[in-house]
Amino acid sequence: MTRDDDRFVSSPVTRRAFLGAAGATAVSAAASFSAPVSGGNAKVRYAIVGAGHRGSGMWGAEALKRHADTLDLVALCDLNPERAEAANALMGTKAPVFTDLDRMLSEARPEKVAVCTVDATHASVITRLLDRGVEVVTEKPMVTEVDQLQSILEAEKRSRKKVAMAFNYRYSPKNELIWQLLRNSDLGRVTSVDFSWYLDVTHGADYFRRWHRLKAKSGSLWVHKATHHFDLVNWWLGADPVEVFAASSLRRYGRNGNLRHSHCRECPHRGKCEFFFDLTKNPRLMALYAGPVGSDGYHRDGCVFREDCDIYDTMAAVITYTSGASMSYSLNAFMPFEGFRLAFNCEKGRIEVRDWERQGWEVPYETEILVARSFQKEPERITLQRREGGHSGGDPRLLDAVFGKNPVADQLRVPDSRAGAMSCLTGIAARTSSESGKPVKIAGLLPAAGLGT
Ligand SMILES: NC(=O)c1ccc[n+]([C@@H]2O[C@H](COP(=O)([O-])OP(=O)(O)OC[C@H]3O[C@@H](n4cnc5c(N)ncnc54)[C@H](O)[C@@H]3O)[C@@H](O)[C@H]2O)c1
Repeated sequence: MTRDDDRFVSSPVTRRAFLGAAGATAVSAAASFSAPVSGGNAKVRYAIVGAGHRGSGMWGAEALKRHADTLDLVALCDLNPERAEAANALMGTKAPVFTDLDRMLSEARPEKVAVCTVDATHASVITRLLDRGVEVVTEKPMVTEVDQLQSILEAEKRSRKKVAMAFNYRYSPKNELIWQLLRNSDLGRVTSVDFSWYLDVTHGADYFRRWHRLKAKSGSLWVHKATHHFDLVNWWLGADPVEVFAASSLRRYGRNGNLRHSHCRECPHRGKCEFFFDLTKNPRLMALYAGPVGSDGYHRDGCVFREDCDIYDTMAAVITYTSGASMSYSLNAFMPFEGFRLAFNCEKGRIEVRDWERQGWEVPYETEILVARSFQKEPERITLQRREGGHSGGDPRLLDAVFGKNPVADQLRVPDSRAGAMSCLTGIAARTSSESGKPVKIAGLLPAAGLGT
């Protein structure tokens, strides 16, 4: 059976599943996170820390447009005040700009803050926000090192507040459909998962142009990127990771190049470098990064071949889960196309997913899902077109779950710090394993993370 299924909730099987999940267990994420502290119809005093691409984009312009009736932007905080002013101009706002977080908290008195800073700084920002009684939604990854988890979990206990984790990938309809198919296809238990994620020479290379190329800032792509995928798997399986054994290497970027400069705009090799990136063609990025470069020296079009790059572009791991399932996972960052292959091998069949996010040729749909049953000839075939909104429709649905007033289905409740911790621990364990050559047990990391013995 084949189904072209652009709006999965209207399809017979998935509609039933969707309504079952949404109707039976609908709860209000808004009740736990989004209700205005000031009560009544007052708008929420909202601030953004980290006014770069993500802060000014999804958590800025998009959130303010989508939830104009709820949010009052009272401050922008960034170490680079020129970037924050550029963000104000791009968003059409005039929010007061601060470079000091404590001063921002005292003077602007936000009730809710979105954390969109460099990954390695999330923990210190979140901890200070919690200690000042502010509600926090943070970009992923929650942390880049195990000890940072402990500081957040302790601050949560002190403040009696919970961090909301912005796992936008869960909110993409295709990923929610996979969650539903796993629960409604009667294929028995999942015995293993095959998951390969492909980053292309545009998006993949971009990580090597920016701060992400440094482990001290991003925790490596094991943490910065793969934690998105590890969270999806934890959520899909309803399980926690047990042990991780990984290998990783740097094969294409960093020291592997033979042409090199600080950044593309002034590069003498621009005519012959395949990775030349013309920032001047993107007015938004020029405004955010080229103008304000004076304050922090940050080049958005940095050379992908800089020798200080200490992360990996070629990663593979075997991970076991509390459910008894295992996963073979890979992440490669210089592929000719962007997307993923995913399969759940189950006791009575297999769910197979091929996702095409970007490639040099036409594809008839973004995602194809096969639900194949053992001993049956024909699989069920579901195809989905690309959805409106960032990250295949995940960004707007996450914003609605975080800031909206309507209840969301139980599976779409905004994830908390435990989910943030579990995905980060998997990524940190993979990085540690690949560097030590030994498997890493998640239980062994828990005491240092403040998550018990
Ligand atoms: N969920 C997603 O799909 C997604 C997509 C992109 C980025 N992100 C996340 O969003 C965050 C921001 O990414 P970006 O691409 O906008 O980065 P960016 O470099 O464009 O912006 C980060 C900003 O934070 C500021 N900053 C750094 N440390 C700070 C601190 N201690 N206090 C205040 N400001 C500080 C920097 O000056 C910079 O302006 C990252 O954590 C990233 O992982 C998530």
